[in-house]
Amino acid sequence: MCGIMGYVGERDAAEVLLDGLRRLEYRGYDSAGIAVACDGRIEVRKTAGKLSRLAELLRKEPVRGTVGIGHTRWATHGQPTDTNAHPHADESGRFVVIHNGIIENFLPLREELERRGHVFRSDTDTEVLAHLIEEEYRGELAEATRRAIQRARGAYALVAMCADEPGRVVAVRMISPLVIGFGEGEMLLASDIPALLPYTREVLVVEDGEMAVLTKEGAHLYRLDGTPVERARMYVTWNAEQAERGGFPHFMLKEIFEQPRALTETMMGRVGPDGRIALEDVHFPDGFPEELEKIWITACGTAYHAGLVGRVLFERLLRLPVEVDYAHELRYRDPVIGPHTLTVAISQSGETADTLAAARLCRARRSRVLAITNVVGSTLSREADDILYTRAGPEIAVASTKAYLAMLVAQVLLALYLGERRGGLDPKVRTELVHELQRLPARVQEILDAHEEIVGLARRLCEAEHMYFIGRGLDYAVAMEGSLKLKEISYLHSEAMPAGELKHGTLALVTHGTPVVVVLTQHDVYEKTVSGLQEVKARGGYVIAVAYADDEHIAKHADTVLRIPRTHDLLSPVLAIVPLQLLAYYVARERGHDIDQPRNLAKSVTVE
Ligand code: F6R
Repeated sequence: MCGIMGYVGERDAAEVLLDGLRRLEYRGYDSAGIAVACDGRIEVRKTAGKLSRLAELLRKEPVRGTVGIGHTRWATHGQPTDTNAHPHADESGRFVVIHNGIIENFLPLREELERRGHVFRSDTDTEVLAHLIEEEYRGELAEATRRAIQRARGAYALVAMCADEPGRVVAVRMISPLVIGFGEGEMLLASDIPALLPYTREVLVVEDGEMAVLTKEGAHLYRLDGTPVERARMYVTWNAEQAERGGFPHFMLKEIFEQPRALTETMMGRVGPDGRIALEDVHFPDGFPEELEKIWITACGTAYHAGLVGRVLFERLLRLPVEVDYAHELRYRDPVIGPHTLTVAISQSGETADTLAAARLCRARRSRVLAITNVVGSTLSREADDILYTRAGPEIAVASTKAYLAMLVAQVLLALYLGERRGGLDPKVRTELVHELQRLPARVQEILDAHEEIVGLARRLCEAEHMYFIGRGLDYAVAMEGSLKLKEISYLHSEAMPAGELKHGTLALVTHGTPVVVVLTQHDVYEKTVSGLQEVKARGGYVIAVAYADDEHIAKHADTVLRIPRTHDLLSPVLAIVPLQLLAYYVARERGHDIDQPRNLAKSVTVE
């Protein structure tokens, strides 16, 4: 996820672009840049760091012109450095592009272009587009862009300029968002509506597979085969703050709804057509996977809960012993860890002080450290031996949602990857998992489409004083995360435990009407969990079950059932958590709390 901005008009383009990028900074903030057409050339100013650094650079080295493009980056390929910041240009500097998303086949494209003599400056996937457009140019930027993107695979939005056509900006949408703004004698383009609002409220959303050509007189829209597209403009009534949240009342809800995309992007380019897994930043030495004796997962909070899922995945698929430790515990233990242990450090931010300290300790004991993180260039990613980036995009709400789902999928990819390298993974299981993995985004979407059903339940539960979450195996891991989500934003006391543990003490707290969430997706322990559920029912507890849509038995035992589409049992956490995230959200809303910034909490815990 990055922020894109384009301007064609009479104003000072740099000023408009910078202002728009400020409103898009929530989409990415590790580097930024602009390109402006002036005197037959295109001038680029870009820098690593937040937008304030770009503003500083523009004060020192201003650019004057009335047509330009701008970008605020959330890195996916290449560290957040000055060179990797957008815009990117071909060698001549005549063709300049910015882009949001992922070009899946950028490596073979880059190799091909290098063989033909192109010289690359950055490590990004984006730069291939500038060189491709340059190769295809025969006097018309739109035509060259159309031809160039036929060779690129992926999900992206691309905006291009050419020094020889200074009054024109060309944009293409392939999944990643793009909106056109219609001003008076000026046209704008952005990845989201907030950037356009100070200039216009008349917008048009570019759809997938469409190209827009902007001049200051207006915009022409085409399908990629060149057929013109006519579509009515929309009038935006949102204020700037609502628009930044994409019309959602809170970032948390927006991020919950971004989960299908977060999953798609985390898998993109990593699962081959033959089901083989490719992990671009994992470079295990020869023999390392085969000689691996143990996996040690370390993390905090939600990331730790993702690790609980990882434990089961790695154990089942790799038949290796796996430990999961809170990073703040591991760092003060004296762990028996060595060169045949793989440490998997999980952290959305990549900056959590305890996780960094635990990873450093493991590394000092000669364990290889693999980071699963959402932030390219974070401290964890810089210090780790291998990196598996989740590509959830920036997470703004304090309560983590989309990053958690992406961490789960990242671990499945890692387990399959290690399984391939080590051998011994049942090919039937592997095929089934790969097949089901690719269906997860659509299945998460199905749950989201039915979100209104949870509002009524939230109203019923919002007066509760305590709530319990139980499950076995993977369902226990989901119960832990469901409970954390609820307590951190609704301030309703809740506790999670393995279903078999309830009767060893906590059951004493279950009385008439006590809400108990039971997660029931694992067929091998289903009967056992149902027994736990009956213990709750017998004490008058109010049972909310999370179960598969085709589970015909559960309605007999539970007071309410939150249904999820069936999937492979090992992947069920990716689905089972979604109704619980929504439940937490709606309960907190009923209780009237500040959902995006709950009291006493911070997004990133960089102190011990
Ligand atoms: C809960 C939450 C926290 C974080 C934890 C670790 O919703 O977000 O529990 O998961 O502070 O943060 P990262 O993943 O950045 O290391």
